[in-house]
Amino acid sequence: MQFSLKVNSKHSQDIKDIMALAKGTNLISFAGGMPNNKLFPVEEIDILYNALDRKTKAIGFQYGPTSGYPPFVGTLKRYLKKKGLPVDTHKLLITTGSLQAISIITQEFVNAGDNILLENPSFVGAISIFETYEVNMHNIPIDKNGIIIEKLIEKIEDLHNKPKFLYVTPNYHNPAGIIYSLERKKALLKVLEKYDILLIEDDAYSDLYFNEDEKYLTETMVSMKSGAEVVYTGSFSKILGPGFRLGWLLATPEIFEKSENIKQALDACTSNFTQILANEFVKSGELDKYLVFLRKEYKKRKDILQENLLKYMPKEVVWNEPKGGFYVWLKIPKHIKATEILKITAKQNVMFIPGRVFDPLSKKDDRIRLAYSNVEIEDIEKGVRVIADALKEYI
Ligand SMILES: Cc1ncc(COP(=O)(O)O)c(C=O)c1O
Repeated sequence: MQFSLKVNSKHSQDIKDIMALAKGTNLISFAGGMPNNKLFPVEEIDILYNALDRKTKAIGFQYGPTSGYPPFVGTLKRYLKKKGLPVDTHKLLITTGSLQAISIITQEFVNAGDNILLENPSFVGAISIFETYEVNMHNIPIDKNGIIIEKLIEKIEDLHNKPKFLYVTPNYHNPAGIIYSLERKKALLKVLEKYDILLIEDDAYSDLYFNEDEKYLTETMVSMKSGAEVVYTGSFSKILGPGFRLGWLLATPEIFEKSENIKQALDACTSNFTQILANEFVKSGELDKYLVFLRKEYKKRKDILQENLLKYMPKEVVWNEPKGGFYVWLKIPKHIKATEILKITAKQNVMFIPGRVFDPLSKKDDRIRLAYSNVEIEDIEKGVRVIADALKEYI
């Protein structure tokens, strides 16, 4: 069989290999970056669906406009406007998950062999997309306040061909759990403006802050005044359910128009059915109520995880306590490979994702990503103990 070069994604294979380790039935999983099964607003959605008239329900079964189901586009615009996003100057494209938005922008801007920039570590879903488009990924380290500006400038100046874009996850980073400081966001925009490089701002988690008085930190770069061009992507996956496959991109009209053409060729339109449900969920005010509930629930899980990490982890293991989102990113001593630790803990039915999965070069393996979002509260202590014991043995 003569497969194309696109099938050789190392990162997709890595994820499959890790999942193959997860065989037990009583798994304690800190692995999947997914929302909690028990927290979905099933009853609320039931009520909203049953209240729809037959005509609207029938629209749900039909194809719709490529840009999105118009009433939903209107509702989402109002929602995003309240968050301060520039919906009057930019255009909104509904996508089949925000992964599709990232895929569309990649297809729109890169040819095989082009340079792009991304953080190290980065969201593995985006890395897998970039791999299939055969781009040259140049990665820039981050610290607890965001991408390291000096390293970014160094990299840009080093490259012969200007990178097509920089991809970042500034709010409650996946996997690093950090949020960029406002100073870092502004400094980043300045650099991108100077070198005229497009920014893809992936913002799947900003609604999931833990403290109201830290909400200001989630200000998006697309809404900040700057001369840099930004494409913003968002998602309903973490705030309603990934089964809806609903995401969006917000871009200037020129970028939007080409994105719409690409989407047309990919899948014609995103499901009307889930757009109708999400429209009702947002319009009725249920989303706002649900977010208050989710923030409390995820904070509760984070607090218990933090408490147990402090109790059980050896002093050589360090991490930043997250202020929102789904993830804690543990730094383990350099001589220990997280992939080896996983092999040990998997035998005791405890799963996490090792650092190398999030390294665009698949090398750096001295980190452990713990997702507290979909683990049972009563399992957190046991899970942490198993991982801590495996680490202590190596140390
Ligand atoms: C940073 C980030 N972006 C995007 C996504 C993908 O979201 P979607 O389900 O909307 O494709 C995820 C999901 O894990 C994510 O962590």
